[in-house]
Amino acid sequence: MTSTPPLPGAPGLAFFEDLRPPAGDFRADVLAGLAKPQKAIPAKYFYDPEGSRIFDRITRAPEYYPTRTELALLDAIGPERRALAGPGAVVLEPGAGSSVKVRKLIDALDAPASYVGMDISGDHVKAACADIASDHPDMVIGAVCHDFTRPIDLSALPLPPGRRIVFFPGSTIGNFELIDARALLQTLAGWLRPGDALLVGADLRKEASVLEAAYDDAEGATADFNFNLVSRINTELDGTLNPEGLRYRAFWNPYRSRMEMYLQAVRDQHFTVCGREFVLRESETIHTENSHKFTLDTFRDLARSAGLAPVHAWQARQQPFSIHWLECPGEA
Ligand code: TRP
Repeated sequence: MTSTPPLPGAPGLAFFEDLRPPAGDFRADVLAGLAKPQKAIPAKYFYDPEGSRIFDRITRAPEYYPTRTELALLDAIGPERRALAGPGAVVLEPGAGSSVKVRKLIDALDAPASYVGMDISGDHVKAACADIASDHPDMVIGAVCHDFTRPIDLSALPLPPGRRIVFFPGSTIGNFELIDARALLQTLAGWLRPGDALLVGADLRKEASVLEAAYDDAEGATADFNFNLVSRINTELDGTLNPEGLRYRAFWNPYRSRMEMYLQAVRDQHFTVCGREFVLRESETIHTENSHKFTLDTFRDLARSAGLAPVHAWQARQQPFSIHWLECPGEA
């Protein structure tokens, strides 16, 4: 661990820990995904630098309500959260990204002691946390390069004492199959001691037309986001997938209460990836992502099944979206 303040290139950071996972095997994952009966590409490959830029465009699209709605809700619930959290909190954020939302949390808390941003993109999280550190010289700010689906030994981090709040906004939890979402909540619950809390965003069910527009905006940012996967395959894996023979589709699946995203072939095409041959038949799809939508109760049940106690939930007025305060049960 590096903990010599100031860190080179990141003044003000109390520590930076590099727990970078072994490089994701894009090649093996894509070849395995395309060989399945329902072709699929793991969603984590969306977020290369170009994909992350396109995702920022999605969050600004008028139809994509989640980001705007959650930001407004975070503003609205500031005072209540302050009361729930108490003074001197230690905030941990898995998948911190650019940390826009956590600034609202920090500003609303009562003299928070510490903030630790964690993200798979180490440089990005280091820079974002250094920025927060310069605005909050009184706090212990750290950054960790880490994939939040993997285990982490928090005792290896120089965390100050104080009530821990794990902050997981954005409804990222909805991108996991329910069984994996539960496992992830269990992992995050493992970071908490009795009385500590998890503050998590969960998008709620709403009319199919609103959902389908949010996941297929008119300006085409969401389509570009999916086609960026095709460019990555063609450039990085010597692929011959013809984007002109594909279109982007987003469907609401009411039975599984989720949006499902696909690239669909408009006509038969034969293509190769790393020299391996594949066929896509007309209308056949490549699955790229799911986004589960909850009710307050289905989300509370999921939380309980992961051993967390739902203490409070806030709902946005603009569009159904919720933020949950879940506690680790036991004597504090
Ligand atoms: N976490 C985001 C969500 O579920 C991810 C996302 C938004 C996404 N739009 C998308 C993923 C389109 C794939 C395709 O809302």
